Amino acid sequence: MAVMEDWGDGDYGRTAELLAPVAERVVEACGVSEGQHVLDVGCGNGNAALAAARRGGRVTAVDPSPRLLAETGRRARRQGAEIELIESAAEAMEVPASSADVVMSVFAVIFSPEPREAVGRMVRARAAGGVVAITSWREEGAMAAAAAILRRAMPAPDGPPPRWDDPDWIAALFAEHGTRAEITEEELPVAATSAGDLLADLEANHPAWRAVRRATSAEEWDPLSADMLLALEAGNRDPDAFLIGSPYLLTLAR
Ligand SMILES: C[S@@+](CC[C@H](N)C(=O)[O-])C[C@H]1O[C@@H](n2cnc3c(N)ncnc32)[C@H](O)[C@@H]1O
Repeated sequence: MAVMEDWGDGDYGRTAELLAPVAERVVEACGVSEGQHVLDVGCGNGNAALAAARRGGRVTAVDPSPRLLAETGRRARRQGAEIELIESAAEAMEVPASSADVVMSVFAVIFSPEPREAVGRMVRARAAGGVVAITSWREEGAMAAAAAILRRAMPAPDGPPPRWDDPDWIAALFAEHGTRAEITEEELPVAATSAGDLLADLEANHPAWRAVRRATSAEEWDPLSADMLLALEAGNRDPDAFLIGSPYLLTLAR
């Protein structure tokens, strides 16, 4: 997603609400427990960081967006949690080696322009006996179809894009860093009052949708938006409202 510049753009809180169940799932899968040091890479507004803190983890949250990092800090204060905040991209992250029992990234390190470096830094931060956890979208389902339509209006990436939807590619990436990855496919239910309401929400609040909309004329945007609506409606499982499943991969490397 080369066009994505500013994850602080728009009201990320709306997207975070949709993703919150995955943050809980990752924290549970990692078995975060009292006193463990947890590193949340690409924390956004703090979903996974806060879930880990609620389980007694000592949390460090990392994100390149100062606005989202500040929101993580505000939410932590409101919940009485102390979270260390570091402004950095994953590929530039400088945290002490072997310092974290859990190193996790919920739909975040997948946006790194340097996945090898980013994953290498995550693996280096993991303490002996610890775990690295990453979630990444599969290129399947109605939301992926809508995102693929959005990408038609984005500049092509330089070189081959990373294959975060491919378990073999992910396993090879971890193997390069001497770690074995266990990868399972899971599904995030996404519900809304209608496909149109979900799309309007994305167009108003999601930074990728906002960035493309800003960069295109109405003539270019309107057919894209119509195609995205059709793609979302095609996946709808709820005749009275809107419900789709968004498949994703959960990678755990120990
Ligand atoms: C879809 S949001 C997910 C946020 C959060 N983990 C959650 O589950 O709500 C993507 C996040 O990745 C962050 N991000 C973008 N590029 C990144 C990079 N190179 N390294 C680490 N995080 C990055 C963004 O700032 C944003 O917070």
